[in-house]
Amino acid sequence: MTASNRTALVTGASRGIGRAIAIGLAARGYDVAINDIARQEGVLAEVASEIEALGRRAVMVLADVSSKGEVEAMARAVADAFGHLDAVVNNAGILIAGEVDGLKEEYWDSVMDVNAKGTFLVTQAVLPMMKARQYGRVVNIASIGGKHGAPEQAHYSASKAAVMGFTRVLAQEVGVDGITANCVCPGIILTDMGRVNLDDPEVRKTWQDKTAMRRIGDPEDVVGAVAFFASDDAAFVTGQTLNVDGGIVLS
Ligand SMILES: NC(=O)c1ccc[n+]([C@@H]2O[C@H](COP(=O)([O-])OP(=O)(O)OC[C@H]3O[C@@H](n4cnc5c(N)ncnc54)[C@H](O)[C@@H]3O)[C@@H](O)[C@H]2O)c1
Repeated sequence: MTASNRTALVTGASRGIGRAIAIGLAARGYDVAINDIARQEGVLAEVASEIEALGRRAVMVLADVSSKGEVEAMARAVADAFGHLDAVVNNAGILIAGEVDGLKEEYWDSVMDVNAKGTFLVTQAVLPMMKARQYGRVVNIASIGGKHGAPEQAHYSASKAAVMGFTRVLAQEVGVDGITANCVCPGIILTDMGRVNLDDPEVRKTWQDKTAMRRIGDPEDVVGAVAFFASDDAAFVTGQTLNVDGGIVLS
């Protein structure tokens, strides 16, 4: 499906899944505001070039999604650049592994701040733009880790479960404004973050064997589900979570 005059904001778009989503939406006709933290500016600019090469507009917005002030400035920048926002993809996320026993409080806080609070802050900041047009698509990138979880990822799992709970209630609150809210739960995807699960060849093989498709996912594998939730084909789909994991069977 291609869109015309559609706009989207993708957070954490300088690499990995966010980059693939930003480029995938541009290929489907969206002008895309791409966000990341300041130190990613150089690689984010490369993503902007790739979007422009597809004939779409790219607007770079540097902001830490866990900072309310920076997120509000980002929403203003998007409004100034595009005038309206059809879809927001809350993709920015971090994973710092550690068992509960010795998990530092600051690790818990930073993972919750970026993954859970960041999703809330960015959504809250763009809702007025969507409500003004009685149209919007909120697509949150959670994780199968938020449903099942794996050792050393209790805080990450909690943050992604929070994203799913947030999305289900958001859907109930904003449906009346023509806005949908859904989650995509990637499985094991080969990105900088995914490598945490994949560096050890034995662990990698275990994940492959647990996956019906017998392979690790690529960032591009996640794009179709996001594009669907962002599209008019999903106009009556809200409050849902969809696994994009190649069929991982967890015992
Ligand atoms: N890779 C996987 O296996 C996997 C599986 C399930 C879910 N996910 C989720 O998918 C999303 C993307 O992950 P990825 O694998 O591409 O990871 P990644 O580490 O490759 O990319 C994450 C991006 O988010 C950005 N980011 C981090 N903190 C930020 C902040 N405070 N503000 C703005 N941007 C910030 C990073 O700079 C980076 O560009 C995350 O939400 C992650 O939890 C990934």
